[in-house]
Amino acid sequence: MAGKVLVTGGGGYIGSHCVLELIEAGYQPVVVDNFSNAHRGEGDVPESIRRVEKLLDTSIEFHELDLLDQTGLEKLFKKAHVCLCVRVRSRPLTGCVCRVCLHASQVMQAHRVHNLVFSSSATVYGDPQHLPIDEQHPVGGCTNPYGQTKYFIEEMIKDHCKAEKDFNAVLLRYFNPIGAHSSGQIGEDPQGIPNNLLPYVAQVAIGRRKCLSVFGNDYDTIDGTGVRDYIHVVDLAKGHIAALKKLKDNCGCQVYNLGTGTGYSVLQMVKAVEKASGREISYKISPRREGDIASCYADPRLAEKELGWKAHFDLERMCEDLWRWQSMNPTGFSNGSAS
Ligand code: WQD
Repeated sequence: MAGKVLVTGGGGYIGSHCVLELIEAGYQPVVVDNFSNAHRGEGDVPESIRRVEKLLDTSIEFHELDLLDQTGLEKLFKKAHVCLCVRVRSRPLTGCVCRVCLHASQVMQAHRVHNLVFSSSATVYGDPQHLPIDEQHPVGGCTNPYGQTKYFIEEMIKDHCKAEKDFNAVLLRYFNPIGAHSSGQIGEDPQGIPNNLLPYVAQVAIGRRKCLSVFGNDYDTIDGTGVRDYIHVVDLAKGHIAALKKLKDNCGCQVYNLGTGTGYSVLQMVKAVEKASGREISYKISPRREGDIASCYADPRLAEKELGWKAHFDLERMCEDLWRWQSMNPTGFSNGSAS
C-alpha cells in the first residue's frame, strides 16, 4: 500500500480524476472539499466521489472542510502524511487563498507532513516570450487573479522549501485539461455558464447552449483564433502519481509542465468535437476576451525526463471521452442518470 494522501478539492473535476488514479495506483486518498465547486450527491458526499466509489467498488474517506478551518485541518494531517493540493480555488481575493496556504503550511509543519504536490497553472507564464514554453520561462507576468494566485502560492512554497530542508514539493503547471474518464461517469460540470472553451462547446453539442462565442479571430495564429495545449484530464491525473513518486527522492522544490506540447486553435477544437459528437456546433465570432493571449503550449520534455511521465491521449480520444461524459450526463451531475 503506497500510503494515505490528502487531496484538497478532491470532489471537483480534476480532483476526482486524481482520486481515481490514486486508488488505481495503490494509494489511499483522504478527500477534502468545501463543495465550492463540487456537486453534493446523496447524503454528504460529492456526487463525483460517490461515482468513483461505485466505479472502483471501494469506499473513499471524505471530509467536508474549508481549508481555513485550522482545527479541522489539524485532525486531517494526523491521518495523512502527504498532501496533494489539487485545487485551491482562486477565491475573489488572492490574499484569501494565500491565507489558506499559510494556514495549511503551518499545520503541515506541525504534523510533520513534509511532502506536497501543488496544482499550479500555465497561466503563471503570462503572455509567452517564446514557444513552446519550458519551465525556465519567466513567471509572474500574468495579469488575472487566477494566474497571480497560483504564482504567489508557488513562491510561498519555494521559500518554504528553502527554509525547511526536509520539506519537498512538486509544482505541476497544468496547461488546458479537458475530457473525462472513459467510463463517462465523471467529468467537467462547471456551475453556471462555463468559462472554459470545451465545456461550453460540449453544452452547445448537447443542446444546452445555443451558440459558441469565439473570442476573437484576429490573433497571429493558424486561423486567427486562440491556440492552447489541451491535455486529457486522465493524463494530467497520472502526472500527479508520477509527482508523488518524485517526492520520495527528497527532491526539494521541483516544477514541471503538464502539457502535450501540441497547440490547437479554437476552430480546430470545434471541428474535433463535431467529429466526436456527430453534432454541428454553431458559433459566432465575437470580440477578444480581455486578458486572453494568442498562443500557449508546453515544452513537456522535463516531466518526461525527470518524472518518467508524458501525455498519451490524442485530441480524438480527448473529444471522444468528453462527448461520452456529456451525452451520458446532459445536465452534468445534477441529473444522476449515468450512475
Ligand atoms: C481557451 C481558448 C479563449 C471560451 C486556461 C484555463 C485552465 C488553466 C490554463 C489550469 C481561448 C477561447 C473560450 C469561449 C472562446 N489550467 N474561448 N470562447 O483561457 O487558456 O485558461 O488556463 O489551471 O485550463 O483557465 O482557457 O478554455 O477559457 O480558453 O473562444 O466561450 O478558447 O479565447 O483562446 P484559457 P479557456
